Amino acid sequence: MAIAAAIVASSTLGAGAVIAGTGAGDDQALQPVRTQANGGIERKVDRLIRQMTVDEKLQQVQLLSDGQITDDDAQKGVGGVFSLTDPAKIDHFQHVAVEQSRLHIPILFAYDTIHGYRTVFPVPLAEASSFDPDVATDDYTISSRESAAVGIKQIYSPMVDVSHEPRWGRIVEASGEDPYLGSVMAATKVRAAQGPDYSAPDKVVTSVKHLAAYGLAEGGRDYNTTDVSEQRLRNLILPPFKAAIDAGADTAMCSFNSINGQPGCANPHTETDILKKEWGFDGFLESDYTAVAELRACPPKNPDEGPCGHGVAADGPSAGALALNAGTDSEMVSTNIRDNGKQLLSTGQISMRRLDDAVRRILRVKFRAGLFDHPYVDQAAIAGKTLQPADRDAARKAAGRSVVLLKNDDNTLPLDPAKSVAVIGPLGDDQHDMLGPWWGQGKDEDAVSLYTGIKAYNPDATFTEGCKMIDADLYDPANECGSDAGFADAVAAANAADQVVLALGETRGQGGEAEVRSVLDLPGKQQELLDAVKATGKPVTVVLFNSRPLTLGKVVDSSNAILEAWFGGIEAGNGVADVLFGKVNPGGKLPVSFPQSVGQIPIYYNHEPTGRPCDTTQKYNSRYRDLPTCAPLFPFGFGLSYTTFKIDNLVLSDKSMPARGSVQVSADVQNTGSRAGDDVVQLYIHDPVASLSQPVRRLRGFQRVTLDAGEKKTVTFRLDASDVGFYDNSGRFTVEPGEIDVFAGDSSTADLTDSFTVTSGRR
Ligand code: BGC
Repeated sequence: MAIAAAIVASSTLGAGAVIAGTGAGDDQALQPVRTQANGGIERKVDRLIRQMTVDEKLQQVQLLSDGQITDDDAQKGVGGVFSLTDPAKIDHFQHVAVEQSRLHIPILFAYDTIHGYRTVFPVPLAEASSFDPDVATDDYTISSRESAAVGIKQIYSPMVDVSHEPRWGRIVEASGEDPYLGSVMAATKVRAAQGPDYSAPDKVVTSVKHLAAYGLAEGGRDYNTTDVSEQRLRNLILPPFKAAIDAGADTAMCSFNSINGQPGCANPHTETDILKKEWGFDGFLESDYTAVAELRACPPKNPDEGPCGHGVAADGPSAGALALNAGTDSEMVSTNIRDNGKQLLSTGQISMRRLDDAVRRILRVKFRAGLFDHPYVDQAAIAGKTLQPADRDAARKAAGRSVVLLKNDDNTLPLDPAKSVAVIGPLGDDQHDMLGPWWGQGKDEDAVSLYTGIKAYNPDATFTEGCKMIDADLYDPANECGSDAGFADAVAAANAADQVVLALGETRGQGGEAEVRSVLDLPGKQQELLDAVKATGKPVTVVLFNSRPLTLGKVVDSSNAILEAWFGGIEAGNGVADVLFGKVNPGGKLPVSFPQSVGQIPIYYNHEPTGRPCDTTQKYNSRYRDLPTCAPLFPFGFGLSYTTFKIDNLVLSDKSMPARGSVQVSADVQNTGSRAGDDVVQLYIHDPVASLSQPVRRLRGFQRVTLDAGEKKTVTFRLDASDVGFYDNSGRFTVEPGEIDVFAGDSSTADLTDSFTVTSGRR
């Protein structure tokens, strides 16, 4: 993984001043800064463990939901509670735990603060589209403060699951298909949420999830099987986890899915060998929701023990033993370790040593979180720490920076504020869906709809729904733009206006957990609505609100401009309007490939080559008979701007690099258009000859730069062994001598290239 640091040399048409690298591409974000073991805390933990009864230890490894926790649990010393958000209740249970439990150990309260608590930011896939770590910093700085204010001291975030599966609804929760971008975002989020010391009143401990390979679920079906080679696990899946741990994440969550036959929460390889031993993680690892119970075979011997599934344990006691022995320290919702622990100890299925280890890890995090010193909630202070005007400003900026311009024929955008605008479409005046599938404590009424955002620029803009998208858990075609009854009004509105903004996409409930789609076209009759509006001849800009890459071929054909807006959070409408009217020049890039058709999935830019590269004009090669290309519709890293950029002058500091050395790579980026704008300079490498076939491209650096019209900057990256090496199938990191190709540009199809030679071998 890259430890490279980028340096940006800035110049306006030649005048050169070197400035220190900041933001993306400056992967100082990936430098390890783990909390040093603190002798004082370790002694306090040991003292407590010596005093604890077996029952108290078993309570400590139990994690209950908001619906489960009672005063009795708090008195007995339950370890953690999640999803409770009422500060009065949190404070109540904390008082019971601290004042009435025998050893006065506080509870660790946790919550899924994923992209905001009350101030909801753009969904994580959108934040990744910004290619701007500052967006993630703002989000996690605000959301950790808002979470901590109500007594939540642990967040189940960042979610870092690299995914090749747009069908999978949870692709929206992480940073897309690339491990490097995912690593930078993961480390940034951890640093922002925890700060240098997460005992601070506005900080929380992060839980990086889901260990591991959850994003590769077969068929895209949530919770489904994965089968992952060691090299793929380590080169593709684990880097963002490692980056989060190196940034200080002190908790982690194991995943529902099995990996090579071993479920994530019964997997000694990922949980213990890699996370705890190799990476030196000394915090704790909680299971996902009932994932320990799900280790059992179906039908379960005892249905009271929770859901069944994987069939690697015969019953609840065996499931508890398997999970604990694999490295799971805390059981979420199901209670197999707690309830069967004494029996498991007496039969030797678990050891006191391992139980103590799990308890030690949990107590260590509680001490580091400052809970023993400051367990209670300052309820009077909450309002002043939540949804402040500056927070909304940051959310608006983030929404604008996350937008990706996919098409802009004939400068359809930016819109002309002096001309009339018809806003049309089921998501055009929608607050609810803007919050995305993990809305935390966000409120629909906090959210700004697109129509509201547009009216601030053009008060005479009209709105016509066209059809309805109704957010519901189960599929019902009637809820998904199922009727064309409103199309005539939509067409009339388009006819009456100079320019049309058509808001299409998905409801927030069509993405997220357990929401998998087998078809990735616009749901329902939305394409027909688009076609009807387009037939008016008015310039049509499609704004997409959605959780995943969609198959947009027909949308491209029948629109003049397309903005991928994802779900932008409470300021979505303002952020997108800023882009539509040109106050913000779009600079986001796709963090995931958009397929031409579902049949291409999995499709990702960093695939390995084949012995028969795709050539659709020939037989016997790796092609689709019925597609004109193997390429995606829109590649990873792609995004347009209202201005144009030229990237050239690729310069390598050396044509050779010893395995312990480094090479600097620089390129010039110039704004060749007439308005200021942002581009993301991306650096890719390829190892053409290696002992294991290497991905055709691998992102190893990026930098989002803002340039005035005509302005030019030199962007510099550093590559070293951590960039050019890779893990083999025995789990060993190897740096092989030979040529490395370098590519620079503003998408994964960049063709500005050079190469250097790695001169010495393994390290
Ligand atoms: C999800 C996790 C989440 C947990 C607690 C599970 O269903 O997979 O991501 O943290 O619930 O809400």
